Order: sequence, then structure tokens, then C-alpha cells
Amino acid sequence: MSTIQTTAPSTDTLGTSAAQARSAVLEELIREDPGRFRVLTGDRPTGRLHLGHYFGTLHNRVRLQNLGVEMFLIIPDYQVLTDRDVADNLTGHVEELVLDYLAIGVDPARSTIFTHSAVPALNQLLLPFLSLVSVSELSRNPTVKDEIAHSRQSAVNGLMFTYPVHQAADILSCKANLVPVGQDQLPHLELTRTVARRFNDRYGDGTAVFPQPEALLSNAPLLLGTDGTKMSKSRGNAIALSADADETARLIRGAKTDAERHITYDPVARPEVSSLVLLAALCLDRPPLRVAEEIGSAGAAALKKTVTEAVNEYLAPIRARRAEYAQDRAFLRRTLREGNERTRAVADATLAEVRAAMNSHY
Ligand code: TRP
Repeated sequence: MSTIQTTAPSTDTLGTSAAQARSAVLEELIREDPGRFRVLTGDRPTGRLHLGHYFGTLHNRVRLQNLGVEMFLIIPDYQVLTDRDVADNLTGHVEELVLDYLAIGVDPARSTIFTHSAVPALNQLLLPFLSLVSVSELSRNPTVKDEIAHSRQSAVNGLMFTYPVHQAADILSCKANLVPVGQDQLPHLELTRTVARRFNDRYGDGTAVFPQPEALLSNAPLLLGTDGTKMSKSRGNAIALSADADETARLIRGAKTDAERHITYDPVARPEVSSLVLLAALCLDRPPLRVAEEIGSAGAAALKKTVTEAVNEYLAPIRARRAEYAQDRAFLRRTLREGNERTRAVADATLAEVRAAMNSHY
């Protein structure tokens, strides 16, 4: 008797390989007709963005924008409160984020940058949406579980527990149909799709109020921090986009390598060295194997020199633009104000449809 595998392998419980296959199809569709897509994505305002963010997602967003995809970038200021008591220096963090976005090429004439708390209609969706998910669905979410495990809080607050539903409200208030994500965000997107489907089934009366947004998985390789673990601001191992050339050189000089002199690209056996090679390769837009080969027996010092030069050269125009925008606070504030206005108009229209579907005309 032959055995036919009908289910995905257990390592793929979140449907990663299905999402990857679908993403390839989506890329094709985007090239054919970018106008049928609307993206919503964003970053928590907790500090300056770094190279891990850049090569992980930011770069991809600008690519999508430039292909002609409409984009909403949310700065989820409430979400900061999921794992801390107070949102310290929120205004400063929000402004830094807007600066980073503008510096990398987000164009406010084409893409909309907004802050979560400035869009009341978005938050109004949260209550009906919460009624569509069960408590056990919320407690099963692996990304939330992981965040709870790493949280500095002794007790889990209600916002942490429910933020994937908030995220569904972020996405669906703008009726976005495409969400570029990393693998860790797939469970959230699945929940957003579930909420959209259940809302349509329960209240839609045959018509779909909400699209079921799709995940666009990027194939960006994982960039490690200078200590060989995940690049993250809180670990002090990140190179910020806004760091200057000297700080960049210092950080790379201090980066962890290994005892073997000959430089190779082997992410499994030599994660620290390979991540440096990868960083140079990404900045130089060349295959990492070639970069490693060229350095070869010249060793870690030569590798670090190559990486430093490549990063500083790559980031120079981004840093120059950032410095320019930093001089123009009025422009920053206007960008956010206009982004918030535009998003309020879109979310108000969505809420009006939701009210109509729910028969809440008073
Ligand atoms: N949760 C995301 C993060 O922690 C940020 C985010 C908030 C987001 N709302 C979103 C991402 C909607 C995509 C879509 O980085």
C-alpha cells in the first residue's frame, strides 16, 4: 500500500512553504497589475531602524512602492504598550521612524504614513472583531506566546493578548489586500484572514465587506547582529541606518568572528563570519559566495574592512537624505498630519460600511 502525504510536514505547521509558493505567484501578479494591490504594514516606534530591518523588510517596501503598489505604513504607537508600562519618548521615536522611512525612499506623495492612535475609526473595529475570535484562538497564537515569554512584564496585559486582533483592524480598516511579512507574522495574518471571513459570513449578506489579505513573504536572508545573534536594538548588536560612518566602523570592528583565518560563506557552520559576508554582499549587490572567495585567506580584518566600506558607501545617500529631512521638522509633521488625514478618510468609509452591514444606523 502506498502512503500519500496529504498534510504538510510538521515543520511547516504555519504553512510557510505554501505562503512561499503563493508569494511567488503574487510577485507575478504585482508586476502585471500593481494597481490591484494595497499594502498595509508598519513598525513599532521603539527606536531607530537598523540594517536588519532594512534588508529584512524596508527595502522590499520601497521596491513595492516603486512598482506602483499603493502603501499604508502604520506606526502602531499603542502596540508599544503590549510589553511595557509607559511609552517613553513616543513622539521622538515616531519622528525618528518617519525620518528613517523618508530617508530610505518612502515617498509621502505615493505612500501614506500614519500613527495608529490618530485614527479613531480603526480602533472602533476592534470591538466587533474581538467578538469574532475565541479566547483559545488568542491563547494559541505562537508569536504572542513567544513575545510573552520574552516580555519584561510579570503579568500579561490585555493589549498583549489581543494585539493580533488590533493588527487585523489596522489592515482591514484600510482594506489592504497584501501584507509583506516575515515568517513570525504569519499567524497574525492568518487571524486577520479569519476575522475578515467571519465578518463577511456573519454580516456581509452575500457581499464581502472585507478582502482576505494575503501574506507576501520576502526571501530576504536573515542578517545577524555583530554578536552573532538576531540583530536587535535592545541587544546592542545592531547597526542603525542613522549611525555615522565612524560608529559603523567601530561596530563592525568589534563584530564577533571565529578562529579560522580563511573566509568562507557557510551560514550553518560559521554564522558570525557568514553574516558579515552577507552584509557586504547585500550592500554590494553580489553573491555572498563570491565576496567570501575574494577575501579568502586575507582573513577577518580584511573582511571587516570590506564590510565597513560596503555599508558606509551603501548608506551614504540614505544618511544624507536623513540629515536633510531632520532639518525640516515642519515637513515631518506635515507628512504625518496628511497621512493621518488620508487614513482617517479611508477608515471612516470602512467603518460606515461596517455599521451598515451590522445594521447600526442610529
Ligand atoms: N506587529 C508589527 C510589529 O511588531 C507591527 C504592526 C502593527 C503591523 N500593525 C501591523 C505589521 C499591521 C503589519 C500589519 O512589527
